[in-house]
Amino acid sequence: MTTVLVTGANGYVGNNIVPKLVERGYTVRAQVRNMDVAKMRLSQYQDRVEFVQADVTDRVSLVALMHGVDVVIHLVAIAIEKGKATYEEVNYQGTINVVDAAKQAGIKRFINMSQNGASSALPYRFLKSKGMAQEYVARSGMDWTALRPSAIFGTQDEFFNSIARLVQLTPIIFPLIGGGKAEFQPVSVLDVAEATVRCVDDETTIGKELLLGGPEVLTLGEIEERILVALGARRIWFPAPVGLLRLPVAIMETLLPGSPVTSSLLDLLAVPNVVKDNALVNHFGMDPIPFKGEHIAYLRDNNVGDTLNIFFTGKKLK
Ligand SMILES: NC(=O)c1ccc[n+]([C@@H]2O[C@H](COP(=O)([O-])OP(=O)(O)OC[C@H]3O[C@@H](n4cnc5c(N)ncnc54)[C@H](OP(=O)(O)O)[C@@H]3O)[C@@H](O)[C@H]2O)c1
Repeated sequence: MTTVLVTGANGYVGNNIVPKLVERGYTVRAQVRNMDVAKMRLSQYQDRVEFVQADVTDRVSLVALMHGVDVVIHLVAIAIEKGKATYEEVNYQGTINVVDAAKQAGIKRFINMSQNGASSALPYRFLKSKGMAQEYVARSGMDWTALRPSAIFGTQDEFFNSIARLVQLTPIIFPLIGGGKAEFQPVSVLDVAEATVRCVDDETTIGKELLLGGPEVLTLGEIEERILVALGARRIWFPAPVGLLRLPVAIMETLLPGSPVTSSLLDLLAVPNVVKDNALVNHFGMDPIPFKGEHIAYLRDNNVGDTLNIFFTGKKLK
C-alpha cells in the first residue's frame, strides 16, 4: 500500500487533501505542528491518519517523518511573516530541508504545492521564495510534480474571507483595492485537492508544472462585487490605488496581529494571477468549480465578533 506524507496537513489545503487520500485507501502520515489543532480539524480521520509533529525549519525533526514513505506532498508555506518565520526560512529553506530529508530516506516521488506566478526572478519576496523552492525541487533528481494554483477559495481561505470580513467593518463605502484591476482565476480548494491526489499515481505528471485555475478570469473588482452579492450587502466603491494603501496597510500590520490586508498581499496584486494553460481542464479533464453562488456561500459565516477577534488576536477560528 502506498504511504503518502502530507506536510502542512493542518492548513487549509492540507485539510482537504488528507480526507481524499484516506478515502482512496492510501496510508497517510500528516506532518503537523500542533496536535490539538490536528485533532480538531481532522477529528473524523484521527484513527486513520498518523499525525507526526515536526517543523520544516528543524532538520532533525524531519527524519522521523520520512520513514516508510513512498510519496511526499509538500504544502508547508507561509503567506504572512511572523517573527523568525520569514519567507526565506520557511518557504525556501524549509522546502530544501524537506527535499533533503526525503532524498536521504530514499523517497522518489515529490509533489510540491507551488503557486501561480512564483518565480525566483521576481523582486517580491513571497513569490521569489516559492519560485526558488520549486527550482530546488526541480533540481532534486526526484520524480517531482509542481502544482501552481491561482488564488484558492474555500471555507477556511484567508484571501476571500478577509475581503468578506472587511465588508462587515465598512458599512457604507468599500475600497476597490488597487482600482480593482488585478486579475485572478479563483480556483476551488476542492479542485486543487482533487488534482493533487490524482498526481500521486499519475506518472504523466512527473517533471511537469501544472497550472490550476477556476473557469473564469475575474478582476479584483468583479471578485469584490461577487463577495458583496454573496453577503447580500451593498457598498459605494471608492478606488484605492496600491501606492496610497501602502502606509495605512503597514500601520495596520504593525497594530493588528490578524491584519486583513498585508504589504505582501499588495505586492501580489502587481503580478497577474491568470492561468494560461489550465491543467484542471487540459490534463485532468475536470470541470472547475466557479467562484459564485452556492460555492461562495461560506463567506456569510463571517460575523463582526469573529472578525474583530481575528484582527486583534491573529488566531484562526476554524
Ligand atoms: N491559499 C492560497 O490561495 C494558495 C494559492 C496558491 C498556492 N498555495 C500554496 O498552497 C500551500 C498550502 O497553503 P494553505 O493555504 O493551506 O496555507 P495554510 O492554511 O497557511 O497552511 C500552511 C500550513 O503550513 C504549516 N507551517 C507553517 N510553517 C511551518 C513550519 N515552519 N513547519 C511546519 N509546518 C509549518 C502551518 O502550520 P500551523 O497550522 O501550525 O500554523 C499550516 O498548517 C502553500 O504552499 C501555499 O503557498 C496557496
